[in-house]
Amino acid sequence: MRTLLPFLKPYRISAAVALSLMLVELVVELCFPLLMAKLIDGAILRQDVGAALKWGGVMIGLALFGFAAGLVNSFYAADVAQGFAHDMRRALFGKLQSMAFSDFRAFSPSSLMTRLTGDINQIQNSVFLGLRVFVRAPLLIAGSMIMALTVDARLALYLVVVTPILVVVLGYTIRKGFRLFRLVQERLDKLNGLVRENLIGMRLIRAYVRGDHEKNRFAETNGDYMRRSTAALRLSEMTVPGLLLLMNASVLLILWFGSRSVTAYETEVGDVVAVLNYAIRITGAYAYLSMIITSLTIARAALSRSAEVLAAGSNEFGANGTAADGIPPDRADVLFEGVAFGYPDSEAAVLDGITFSVNDGETAVIMGATGAGKTSLLQLLPRLYEARRGTVRVGGTDIRDIELSVLRRQIGYVAQESTLFAGTIRDNLLWGREDASMEEVVEAAKLAQIHETIMQLPDAYEAVLEQKGANLSGGQRQRLSIARALLRKPKLLLLDDCTSALDARTESLLLAGLKTCGCTTLLVTQKAQAARWADTVLLLADGKLLAQGKHGELLARSETYRFIVESEREEAAHHA
Ligand code: CTP
Ligand code: MG
Repeated sequence: MRTLLPFLKPYRISAAVALSLMLVELVVELCFPLLMAKLIDGAILRQDVGAALKWGGVMIGLALFGFAAGLVNSFYAADVAQGFAHDMRRALFGKLQSMAFSDFRAFSPSSLMTRLTGDINQIQNSVFLGLRVFVRAPLLIAGSMIMALTVDARLALYLVVVTPILVVVLGYTIRKGFRLFRLVQERLDKLNGLVRENLIGMRLIRAYVRGDHEKNRFAETNGDYMRRSTAALRLSEMTVPGLLLLMNASVLLILWFGSRSVTAYETEVGDVVAVLNYAIRITGAYAYLSMIITSLTIARAALSRSAEVLAAGSNEFGANGTAADGIPPDRADVLFEGVAFGYPDSEAAVLDGITFSVNDGETAVIMGATGAGKTSLLQLLPRLYEARRGTVRVGGTDIRDIELSVLRRQIGYVAQESTLFAGTIRDNLLWGREDASMEEVVEAAKLAQIHETIMQLPDAYEAVLEQKGANLSGGQRQRLSIARALLRKPKLLLLDDCTSALDARTESLLLAGLKTCGCTTLLVTQKAQAARWADTVLLLADGKLLAQGKHGELLARSETYRFIVESEREEAAHHA
């Protein structure tokens, strides 16, 4: 509820209108059996046509009034539910952008997808139902009970007796259902995750002829989802027949004792009819209530999942970095001092005792076997993750003291796997810096050695990329990502193995180009060939800095480095 209320607040007037109209509907409904009693006792039994017309007219008028109120109510209820869901989706999406990256990684992408779409829809439906009928049902039950008691207390007693049993049963259903439906939603996350994985990996699945294997995996998850859903639905659906049985029993009792007291001239026919009518309305309300409760329980589980996302740590890494510290340093030398790092969800040390420096405007090449910690090291600079120990300085300032957005605006980061967005090439490049001019775009593309390739495309810079740049080659995607980073005119350029798909000639052109842009560059690569361009080479092994220095120095000093360089040379000779 605490999650829900702030989102409903902007719609409180519409919600209030909807609820008051619902009350109007309720009053009309409660008056009906009374009027019916009047019609029977005062007009029909006395064969008074004038009175019959009067009461009949009143009933028709009221019915129309109730109908109009119901119509306007659903109009407002829909308004509230849609607006509320829209705002909630926006808030969740906003949270995705602002939550600490490590927290973000703690949710699976498919779970976040479900939370932002399916879950919100469930909540939206329940808000609508809530304003339409959910609040009305209990009120209708209570109101009918009171009215029936005033009409004939003795007969209405049979209705009152069954109430505690029904309340207990419904309460149990709600509690148990909540747990069951959370499980259902988790299974749905899993199902979505599987579909997502398959969609992304379809190329591999086809190439490995693993379609049947994947189908089996899907069937298992799908079956699991079905079983969980059935169990959850069965629980709530089982309560409906039970409720109806109890209510029908009390209707029969009313009929039985009612007819006896009518024959004994103790009660009027109209009163018995009225009490019966209330009983039937209560029965209907209970049946409806237990059905809505299913939807409400699902929504409650959904809401708790949304709340989890909203509660995730906002403001990446807390509120450090003051306005004064936010001033960007005019130099971008990088200094690591005794840095240790590990991923949040594991004990293992990924980096340990990393100490090195890169002067302003110089290039450092980071080399090391796969899994050595190269990507992890780069990610510390834009503070995607936080070092466990030690300090990272840029321009002499501890990066924890620089405002996060200020720090990141100075960084051009090219991740190991290039990510492009649906849109034109120009859109994708401008994504790096929106206010760049077309000349700057072309300049960056030239520097990244992609300009000529772009010019060969039918629409050049206006060529449309598919989602994730699926219609480009791996190397083209890499170079576009580099151009996008260069367009930012960053002080600090981080390139994570993004020259892997480039041939040697293009790579050396690119590296020569990077020299001219004047930014401090950290380049992860597997190729010793690239290390010749570097001012410093950092050799990582198992999260530790094995050696550092210039290419020539390392050749003389480090046996490992010599081995890497020599094996690469042999390979090149072999290919030549
Ligand atoms: N790791 C992890 N959790 C992640 C990413 C990585 O626990 N989210 C671990 C890996 O298992 C690995 C270590 O961190 O042992 C270093 O990973 P990484 O920095 O990505 O290694 P790279 O040197 O970048 O390896 P590659 O050349 O394959 O990119
Ligand atoms: Mg890596």
